[in-house]
Amino acid sequence: MASRVTLFVCTSCRQAVEGAAEAFRPTGAELATALAERIAAAGVADAVLLEPVECLAVCKRPATIALSGDGRWMYLIGDLDPALHLDDIVSAARAYAATDNGIVPWRERPPIFRKGVIARVPPLGLKQPEPPTP
Ligand code: FES
Repeated sequence: MASRVTLFVCTSCRQAVEGAAEAFRPTGAELATALAERIAAAGVADAVLLEPVECLAVCKRPATIALSGDGRWMYLIGDLDPALHLDDIVSAARAYAATDNGIVPWRERPPIFRKGVIARVPPLGLKQPEPPTP
C-alpha cells in the first residue's frame, strides 16, 4: 500500500504586480493557505501532508511546490497560481500518492504536472539496472 506523501509549498515565492513598481503579491503564501483548505475539503489529508517551506531555489518560476515521499522520485513543479491551479495540484498530489515510486503515467498527469515540472530527483538508495554489457 502506498504511504503518505508530502507536498512542500514555497511560502517565499512572490510575483511582481504589473504596473506597480516594487509591489509584490505573496503568491507562495497564498498558495499554501489555499491548498490547506482545498486538501481538507477534498478529503485527501490522510494521503497528502502539506508542508510550507521557505525557498525551493526556483524563484524565477513562482509559485513552486515539491512532491516527495518514501521511495519515490521527487518532483519540483513551478509556475503555479493559487487562483488557477488548486484542483490540479490536489489531483497531482493524489495521483502521486497512489504510486509506489512517484512516477505518475504521463496521460494521468494534470496539466500543471506536465508543463510545470522543473526537475525530478531519484529517491535515496535507488539502484538502476546495470546497462547491458557490449
Ligand atoms: S522564493 Fe519560492 S522558490 Fe525561491
